[in-house]
Amino acid sequence: MRILVTGGAGYIGSHTCVELLGAGYRVVVVDNLANSNEESLRRVQEITGKGLTFVKADLLDRAALDALFYEHPIDAVIHFAGLKAVGESVYKPLEYYHNNITGTLALCDVMRSHGVKSIVFSSSATVYGDPAQIPITEGCPKGEIMSPYGRTKGMLEQILTDLHTADPGWQVMLLRYFNPIGAHISGRIGEDPKGIPNNLVPYVSQVAVGKLEKLGIFGHDYPTPDGTCIRDYIHVVDLAVGHVKALGKMMGAVPKAGAVADSIKGGIGTSDRDAVGGVWVYNLGTGVGYSVLDVIHAYETANNIKIPYEFKPRRAGDVPVCYSDATKARDELGWVATHTLEDMCRDSYRWQSANPRGYEG
Ligand code: NAD
Ligand code: UFG
Repeated sequence: MRILVTGGAGYIGSHTCVELLGAGYRVVVVDNLANSNEESLRRVQEITGKGLTFVKADLLDRAALDALFYEHPIDAVIHFAGLKAVGESVYKPLEYYHNNITGTLALCDVMRSHGVKSIVFSSSATVYGDPAQIPITEGCPKGEIMSPYGRTKGMLEQILTDLHTADPGWQVMLLRYFNPIGAHISGRIGEDPKGIPNNLVPYVSQVAVGKLEKLGIFGHDYPTPDGTCIRDYIHVVDLAVGHVKALGKMMGAVPKAGAVADSIKGGIGTSDRDAVGGVWVYNLGTGVGYSVLDVIHAYETANNIKIPYEFKPRRAGDVPVCYSDATKARDELGWVATHTLEDMCRDSYRWQSANPRGYEG
């Protein structure tokens, strides 16, 4: 099976390419390199000893996408490509809505015109807003989403669901990630943020290697045991494996090609619907919450170093506590996260210390 991975040169995409190649899939990556470096894909091939196809293109460039689908017969798409900086999205809403939403609309339109109707989408725990329940199950109502970035995720979940309603031949897998951190155990691929990192662990890693002086902890007066926010940190390799499991489930739900064609021609009854296509939603998290101070202590222990920090005021938009109930993915995908917080911290540091300037050198 040949899988198109949009945004495959990025952080989660590159780790997913490793797992897809390891599982025997063929991989085509499309990425405009707006927030990544082609070197990540060279290293994916080095790690796996397998080749992949890279097409440098923007999802907004329909002609390029169309040419890609003509040239490479694609069975399914894993759609990572998007802009993801929460703070930046507040002052660049047009850019975020255009890139993330218009880009996805163009992708789906081109997919449809080539008869490809299976998509795994990178959503986020951000769609739960300040969650109505902890731990967060998939049934938890979507909350008030705090940023334009997050709203693109909420809107795209709806758009993809509407696509399936209009044409039940579509298969839509919505994966809501919690907080991916860590890096491949080889230390060859990892997160390479441009400029000063916005996220906790990339910031801690740059403090650890002496690129930044000290961490600022945003708020220590939250209603949590140590006063700092609690999140569900998940190793990026576990997350990548979750994509392979989710893809397997989605593609396993496809009946023989003729049955899909017949159902599309003739219309289908409700009972056939699940067999043809569907919309699935899974949380990808560990089910365990850790505070900011827990992360710092785990990082220090795992790597035998000190992370200087100071407390700062709360950051706008942060919810106090956010962690998943991960049982649905376990029961239905047969997937559980296996890496500990210390594994995540050790692997982040290995990547950062071996590549202090990321993929630049
Ligand atoms: P990333 O920035 O490392 O990867 C995204 C990739 O998409 C980049 O390589 C970028 O160059 C590419 N891209 C962006 N716009 C594009 C366009 N118009 N055409 C082609 N390529 C384009 O981000 P990531 O952390 O790997 O995240 C992947 C996906 O997961 C994103 O959709 C993100 O919103 C989502 N997500 C990430 C997190 C997280 O904490 N990292 C959490 C929840 C959801
Ligand atoms: N934090 C600090 N100092 C920093 C950076 C972060 O104290 O320098 C704190 C934050 O205040 C928060 C925690 O560390 O309490 C985690 O913050 P991150 O920015 O690492 O992660 P978020 O939970 O804010 O957001 C992440 C992704 C989003 C995604 C969301 C889903 O960045 O894309 O998880 O839960 F939507």
